[in-house]
Amino acid sequence: MQNKKKIVVAITGASGAIYAKLLLDNLKALHQQVDKVGVVMSDNAKEVWRYELGNDDYNNYDFDFYAKMDFNAPFASGSAKYDTMIIVPCSMGALGRIAHGISNDLISRAADVILKERRKLIAVARDTPLSLIHLNNMKIITEAGGIICPASPSFYSLPNSIEALAQTVVDRVIDLAGLEKSSYRWND
Ligand SMILES: Cc1cc2nc3c(=O)[nH]c(=O)nc-3n(C[C@H](O)[C@H](O)[C@H](O)COP(=O)(O)O)c2cc1C
Repeated sequence: MQNKKKIVVAITGASGAIYAKLLLDNLKALHQQVDKVGVVMSDNAKEVWRYELGNDDYNNYDFDFYAKMDFNAPFASGSAKYDTMIIVPCSMGALGRIAHGISNDLISRAADVILKERRKLIAVARDTPLSLIHLNNMKIITEAGGIICPASPSFYSLPNSIEALAQTVVDRVIDLAGLEKSSYRWND
């Protein structure tokens, strides 16, 4: 199907594994709009997920998972035509590697490909506070066409759980990715 999305989800070792979990859950629910979801996790992403969520449920998703050094993954090449890449959460390390074109793992290579092909890169960057190095890397990625979508939840929907709070970030990511989902809209 021409208009169904081919999405890469990269999960790195920043705090906020809940954002990755919610995004995968949402993509599962939005399967009619999605052709393929390829997932790649860094080692620290798995460690942080286990620590913060207390499980290894990333093993349970029926998506195509690729090892972090698997350059045979389709989205390691522009020819596979993945149209969107979401890095959630995005560590400052991953951000730096991408900003400087250091394609030495599948995550940084896939982001390099998305940017060179002028497709959509969404980086859910997470750290606080931010150094000038982090800010400069965000600027470089923005200038290269990527979208920095900070893991910065909003409170104006009056979320009543951690999950609902985290979903405010994931809803913005889903909007940015061009997927249709009913979610809270201010004053709608
Ligand atoms: C529990 C935990 C939380 C972390 N939180 C962050 C974070 O919020 N932001 C960040 O940039 N790095 C964070 N780190 C450090 C990264 O995991 C580390 O820099 C790692 O090398 C990132 O590599 P990756 O991008 O390949 O996952 C955290 C590490 C742990 C163990």
